[in-house]
Amino acid sequence: MMEEANRLNSRGALGKDIERVLIDEKTLSRRLAEMGAAIADAYAGKDLLLIAVLKGSVLFLADLMRHIPIPHEIDFMATSSYGADVQSSGVVRILKDLNKSIEGRHVLLVEDIVDSGNTLAYLTGLLAARRPASLEIITLLDKPDRREVDIAVAWTGFSIPNEFVVGYGLDYDERYRNLPYIGILKPSVYADTNTENSME
Ligand code: IMP
Ligand code: MG
Repeated sequence: MMEEANRLNSRGALGKDIERVLIDEKTLSRRLAEMGAAIADAYAGKDLLLIAVLKGSVLFLADLMRHIPIPHEIDFMATSSYGADVQSSGVVRILKDLNKSIEGRHVLLVEDIVDSGNTLAYLTGLLAARRPASLEIITLLDKPDRREVDIAVAWTGFSIPNEFVVGYGLDYDERYRNLPYIGILKPSVYADTNTENSME
């Protein structure tokens, strides 16, 4: 424990705001290798398109696709939700849409975290209307205790407790995305703030 604390502090300004490491780098990379293999099996011979939701899932996408040894394409969408930064309000706005049509293609939506499920409920509805051959969801993290909308997630990296986490793409107020692990943010960092959460 002491060693972990020292390592975090040696990372400087960001690490000092982390209460503890929830998922370390080795554990992340082992799980991504498993998920990549499962996806390669599931989509062998199919026209696979990974769609990542900016910005939180970019690190996940970049590492995951290196573990998917079959041909595939990637594309990006950006959404914004409003309300307190540590909670999603369910009001979703598209800030950036896809570059190409998804009609007849096998779409795998890549998310950083499923929390209330509001963002994904909206996005899957929107994408399904564009008539892909299939539409599935992969998420790195899931907070099942917080679910407000029922969402069918095909692959989940880790189910986690109801704590606000940052790192490996996930932010609080646009910071901490560059931490190479998933950590629990000290609640003192987000106490007393209420800002717009633009571009997840
Ligand atoms: P949902 O619509 O409530 O499922 O919210 C999903 C979005 O909220 C995610 O894509 C994240 O951007 C953000 N979010 C939810 N929980 C966390 C967290 O613990 N840390 C950082 N961002 C989170
Ligand atoms: Mg966010």
